[in-house]
Amino acid sequence: MADLEELRRSAQACTDCVLHEGRTQVVFGRGNPAARILLVGEGPGKDEDLQGLPFVGAAGQLLDKILAAVDLSEQDVYISNTVLCRPPKNRAPEPTEVSACARHRSALLAVLDPPIVVLLGATATKAVLGPKTSVTAVRGSRIVQDGRAYYPTFHPAALLRDPSKKRPVWHDFQRIAKDYRLILDGAADDAETEPWPAPDGAESR
Ligand code: URA
Repeated sequence: MADLEELRRSAQACTDCVLHEGRTQVVFGRGNPAARILLVGEGPGKDEDLQGLPFVGAAGQLLDKILAAVDLSEQDVYISNTVLCRPPKNRAPEPTEVSACARHRSALLAVLDPPIVVLLGATATKAVLGPKTSVTAVRGSRIVQDGRAYYPTFHPAALLRDPSKKRPVWHDFQRIAKDYRLILDGAADDAETEPWPAPDGAESR
């Protein structure tokens, strides 16, 4: 299996979709390659494109705060995106661009092999769980596929636009951190069976 640096090199040379034409650089990922949690965003914005690192702008600062609030550090996570090159004018990536980047996403998943994958927002949720999946409908749930648990939640940029989304995201990250600690403690089965009340008290899985 390829290692992370090989994947990075292969992504850096990628010209599979039009997004390569406008990029300053490929934004591959940041964090701990041995982390058990992979966070997947939408795509690089202007700051990320310039710095070559995901989530370093305003949404990234909020993401760092959310992680810190549940006691997760950069050591606990690896952060990447659904597409690795900046879409022009920060538009959402087109389905063809999301598909073109699939080989990089699946190679990253295979190399990191994280038990927990957090899908940040609609683009990541649709890319992984299917194009008809609505993040609003599935957020708060824990979806097990191919031995991994996927946690869809709202994108940090959506929280900046709509503060009413903060509470559900806070709730989601508390659950993610709790399940993560169960996995670290070797009690992952509890993460699978323990009920998790939604913010309104309703069952969410
Ligand atoms: N939004 C994303 O989805 N990804 C980034 O890297 C930055 C902002």
